[in-house]
Amino acid sequence: MIIAVDGPTASGKGTISKALAAHFGLPHLDTGLLYRAVGRQVALNDGDPDDAADALAACDFPDSLLADPALRSEETGGLASRVSVHPAVRQALYERQRAFARQPGGAVLDGRDIGTVIAPDAEVKLFVTASVQARAMRRWLEMRDRELDLELREIEADIAARDKRDIERKDAPLRAAADAFILDTSGLGKEAAIAAAIEAVEQALR
Ligand code: DC
Repeated sequence: MIIAVDGPTASGKGTISKALAAHFGLPHLDTGLLYRAVGRQVALNDGDPDDAADALAACDFPDSLLADPALRSEETGGLASRVSVHPAVRQALYERQRAFARQPGGAVLDGRDIGTVIAPDAEVKLFVTASVQARAMRRWLEMRDRELDLELREIEADIAARDKRDIERKDAPLRAAADAFILDTSGLGKEAAIAAAIEAVEQALR
């Protein structure tokens, strides 16, 4: 069984995917981490994330980079969104994601194009979303916990810019697959969102 989870930044798709993987006993791949590693490697190479050749060269990142805490930063998220626009980068990461999805026991993958491009034949597709305001508020609370002081308005602008780039890119843009279940987490707390996702998967399998 493949569970494909897509959605914009800070929608809760990461938390939901981890919980689904634990609940159904499946391995989980956060595909955003691969794009984040490319974004980070471009920076380490002093390259230009908007340059296709520089971005492609960064796809050769060492596996050890995947454990780098810097991958979680907003800055790296922005770089990831920029390198992910290049078709050659998407192509370079494609097989690794496909191989993970094809594991005999199944898998949970989360990203932007899992239900549309990486695993269009997935048994279950969820599109997790939430309003820009709800997502910005979550990010802001998260950052406050890490004692990072950022204006809510700044975070909102950043999220809106990232959405726009992910949605408007030509190759594998962020969008819900026609057969995806749309889960709007705007008014939901973490536990409620996870319960709704488990229910949606069970419904899809019935
Ligand atoms: O999910 P995330 O915030 O870690 O993703 C960072 C960026 O990577 C996102 O803005 C776009 C890109 N990405 C992508 O293009 N395709 C995916 N399957 C996952 C992420």
